[in-house]
Amino acid sequence: MNQIEYILITGGAGYIGSHTVVELIQHGKTPVIVDDFRNADPKILRGVEEISGNQVICERVDVCDETAMRVLFERYHFTGIIHFAAYKAVGESVDEPLKYYSNNLNSLLVCLALTEEFKVENFLFSSSCTVYGQPEKSPVTEESPIIEAKAPYGATKQMCERILSDFVKSGANIKVLNLRYFNPIGAHPSGKIGELPSGKPNNLLPYLTQSALGILEELTVYGNDYNTLDGTCLRDFIHVCDLANAHVKGLDWLENQQEALNEIVNVGTGNGSSVLEIIHTFEKVANRSLKWKFGPRRSGDVEQIFADVTKAKKLLKWSAQKTLEDAVRDAWNWEQKWRNETIDTN
Ligand SMILES: NC(=O)c1ccc[n+]([C@@H]2O[C@H](COP(=O)([O-])OP(=O)(O)OC[C@H]3O[C@@H](n4cnc5c(N)ncnc54)[C@H](O)[C@@H]3O)[C@@H](O)[C@H]2O)c1
Repeated sequence: MNQIEYILITGGAGYIGSHTVVELIQHGKTPVIVDDFRNADPKILRGVEEISGNQVICERVDVCDETAMRVLFERYHFTGIIHFAAYKAVGESVDEPLKYYSNNLNSLLVCLALTEEFKVENFLFSSSCTVYGQPEKSPVTEESPIIEAKAPYGATKQMCERILSDFVKSGANIKVLNLRYFNPIGAHPSGKIGELPSGKPNNLLPYLTQSALGILEELTVYGNDYNTLDGTCLRDFIHVCDLANAHVKGLDWLENQQEALNEIVNVGTGNGSSVLEIIHTFEKVANRSLKWKFGPRRSGDVEQIFADVTKAKKLLKWSAQKTLEDAVRDAWNWEQKWRNETIDTN
């Protein structure tokens, strides 16, 4: 009898994880979500099931709990792991560094110990362009210098990449792909899953959509005197569905490699868009004007960063397909649907 080959998705109920689970199912994979919902809403799983037309396997477990995780490795024959589970708020990481080091490092260490024990060979890690800090020039390639992270969050990503590299160098029989995400935005076009920031959002787009609905006060654009075309910060905003698809391509690529390896690939669009561009795109797609004002620069904000995506194209045969307009429209659609549903069901 053929054994089912499962893909372990830690943090699979979260923003990027849930979109990736949809993509994996649509590509014939059988994901197992492991998430304890510390930063996710179980209702998201219903959305994943509605979109994919499949029942989703989800185990409510803390990824740092090695004993509980071992039970799952015994129950499912995992052939690959996508490790999303982590805390991700840069500001919070400055105030609560131990929380970040503990969760982001331990969750990785537990997964790696179990990959060794259970001989799981394919490992995809959620890294971030934050490892580049403020680069001297953009686009940044994977060879651009890594600058010592200012905040503990970025430091955890740098440390995790280092742990993975050391693990492979030590002779572990594992193929590792570090995906350095740029700035994921948007939601599934169905409006059934999307980003659910807890509390006041740190990211631009959820702040913007919530402020458009009157949930938050007017939007502040921090800084208008940066060395960019319109004076506001520049980011490489990537549609979360494109990013999700990069994981499917990444996993396929890993599965086709024969030997242990540790690779790094940027996942972005290759284009920089300014904060003002996002605001204007929103006003266009939502057909309404936003209340916003300029504020002073925020300390720690990077002026501009966008990806060189040559390697993603070459190695993974992947490139972003969706436009900034698609992403902003889908984020707006999701925000409205989610708010309506939450009001209906509460
Ligand atoms: N969203 C971004 O802007 C961005 C950018 C670059 C990198 N990343 C990285 O991508 C990954 C996913 O990010 P996201 O935006 O989907 O975040 P998210 O918070 O929406 O998802 C993370 C999920 O992991 C779960 N989780 C965290 N710790 C856990 C633990 N110990 N045990 C079980 N579940 C746990 C949370 O409940 C949540 O569902 C993270 O590693 C993040 O650092 C995110």
